[in-house]
Amino acid sequence: MKQTYLDCLAALGVGGAHPGGLKLSKKLLEKENLQPEMTVLDLGCGTGQTAAYIARKYKCRVTALDVDPTMLEKCRQRMDEEALSVEIVRGDAENLPFKDRTFDLVLAESVIAFVDMEKAISECRRVLRDEGCLLAIEISKYGILHPEEEKMIMDFYGFTELPTEKRWHEKLYAGGFTQVESEMAKIDFFTPDFENAPDFRISEVVDPACFDMLQEHEYLTKSYQEELSYHIFRCK
Ligand SMILES: C[S@@+](CC[C@H](N)C(=O)[O-])C[C@H]1O[C@@H](n2cnc3c(N)ncnc32)[C@H](O)[C@@H]1O
Repeated sequence: MKQTYLDCLAALGVGGAHPGGLKLSKKLLEKENLQPEMTVLDLGCGTGQTAAYIARKYKCRVTALDVDPTMLEKCRQRMDEEALSVEIVRGDAENLPFKDRTFDLVLAESVIAFVDMEKAISECRRVLRDEGCLLAIEISKYGILHPEEEKMIMDFYGFTELPTEKRWHEKLYAGGFTQVESEMAKIDFFTPDFENAPDFRISEVVDPACFDMLQEHEYLTKSYQEELSYHIFRCK
């Protein structure tokens, strides 16, 4: 069976699988004034690199949710190794298994673009407290893309849409947020940063096609630097 890009991320156990990686997450979290009594949801947590960082550094009550059991197993290993008490939940971003107004912060690092955006956005709003905040780092279309290239990129990642920053705003407001701020993430994809590098938890058996997919992802990132951008959305 053909592996999807997300299957490959899970098989390779890529931690920090979002634009800007842990370095950008750290920078954004610094501004959030996180306190130990606060509840944080890492939506689509992957192997939990950011969830672990928040639990370790800010001592918040962190919940890490993902739909992929392989990701969650690797997330569990990480938390056990670091003796961190993070609640790990299998669930769907489009139908979150939490009560209304549960979280102070929902973090979505390269997740909403992969799912039904409308559903996921309104679920984020629903599970946030009234004063809570959604912090999302997501891909957006910046330059002009030929429709065939756009389709190729969407098919590769499994996106149903590649929104512009403006379109993201429309979707976020339509999903119930009343205040949406965004900025383009300035990301240097090509200078090694060992302190914040993605970490890998590779499964025992990996389809070799996954290594090719990761290379293809790097190739696309490099080739479409002018046409694709990454935005940080801070929404209330
Ligand atoms: C690009 S990865 C980012 C992972 C993580 N946020 C990180 O930065 O390392 C996207 C993640 O979203 C998860 N995901 C995809 N669809 C999902 C859904 N419907 N509900 C919850 N998580 C989902 C994937 O399993 C994957 O872990």
